[in-house]
Amino acid sequence: MAQRFNYDSLFSKTSQDAPPGSFRHAKYDFAVAYPDPEILPLDELVDSLKSAFDREGRDLAYYSDAAGYAELRRLVAEKLARERNMKVEADGLVLTSGSGEAIGIVIQALTDPGDVVLTEEFVYLGTLNQMRRYGADVVGVKCDDDGILPGDLDTVITEQTAKGKKVKYLYTIPTFQNPMGWTMTLERRKQVLEVTGKHGIPVFEDDCYADLRFEGEDVTSFHSLDETGRVVYVGSFSKIIAPGMRMGYLVAPQEVINRAWSFKSGGAVSQFTALAVAEYMKGGMDQHIEAHNRALAAKRDAMLAALGENFGSSVTWTAPQGGLYLWVKFPEGADLAAVQDQVYEEGVGYYNGAQFSPSGEGANYVRLCFGHPSAETIYEGIGELARILDKKGVFPG
Ligand SMILES: Cc1ncc(COP(=O)(O)O)c(C=O)c1O
Repeated sequence: MAQRFNYDSLFSKTSQDAPPGSFRHAKYDFAVAYPDPEILPLDELVDSLKSAFDREGRDLAYYSDAAGYAELRRLVAEKLARERNMKVEADGLVLTSGSGEAIGIVIQALTDPGDVVLTEEFVYLGTLNQMRRYGADVVGVKCDDDGILPGDLDTVITEQTAKGKKVKYLYTIPTFQNPMGWTMTLERRKQVLEVTGKHGIPVFEDDCYADLRFEGEDVTSFHSLDETGRVVYVGSFSKIIAPGMRMGYLVAPQEVINRAWSFKSGGAVSQFTALAVAEYMKGGMDQHIEAHNRALAAKRDAMLAALGENFGSSVTWTAPQGGLYLWVKFPEGADLAAVQDQVYEEGVGYYNGAQFSPSGEGANYVRLCFGHPSAETIYEGIGELARILDKKGVFPG
């Protein structure tokens, strides 16, 4: 057999092993924050694409605007002005392949190896992984149900600076925080802006769940509370249409966009997708979001009811007003990380808290997503989770 070619001596010094991950699906999948496949607006997307193609499909013969389809940028800017009180022009916004790409290129533009970057004490895994990949020293800031604790934020920045560390930015998911589920209050947002302002640190706001509110009142974006260009903002269509669309956006001062863009590869986002999304925004997207949110509320209730029936008082959980998951706390010492793979093999998927923690603590927490399964499946699956954990003696039932 021919000997395989060896690339080892050819890889660049900065390259790392990072194989493309694949997502596994358990029978009861509470691990990843997917929407419900039954709710996806497939027919509407096809109709939207058809209308857009009839009008301007032949433009696909050209490479599109590097910042992404101008009409979609205009519609997103309008939506952000209307719903998130943001003063943003289509030209101050660029489209990216999901918000994940926007997050990645901003991290690269702002982070040198060894820099301290701040996040909430538990944070979206995708961001945490990207920060680590580019050498950031990620430090979590303590939170309560109202969001980041400004006193702890101030202490962490002061301590890190005293150690000679450069604190580069605070990344926050202020609306339906992933994984903790709370929404930061207006007062806290103002306090966080004040503390970071005092130390000259920008705020990197990830608002990808802002549309998934099924109860309570919206809280305005960080971006709308700042007039100095100190807030960088990302959003996404993944949670309101589907992750498979790979469409997100970045709003930032031009100098930040220019630097971040130097890390973008592959040219503009897909014009094919952008045409469908733009046309859908002009048509039924808002009604779809409302229907989706009603369905999410019912699923959240099914999960709350099932937890109440199957878990004793030693376990507590949040009841978020939107978003896709509950954050569940087991007694101190319970190790939900150790049994995660075995529980998966038995049919129930979840992510444990330590996975979201910059310091690796929190194995007595789990995040349970209710977006993808039906209410009946959620109800059944939570019962199954309780049964498996009980059998394994993970916590006193
Ligand atoms: C907080 C947060 N930000 C960003 C993303 C990335 O989403 P996408 O790249 O699909 O827009 C996710 C996905 O789960 C998320 O939870």
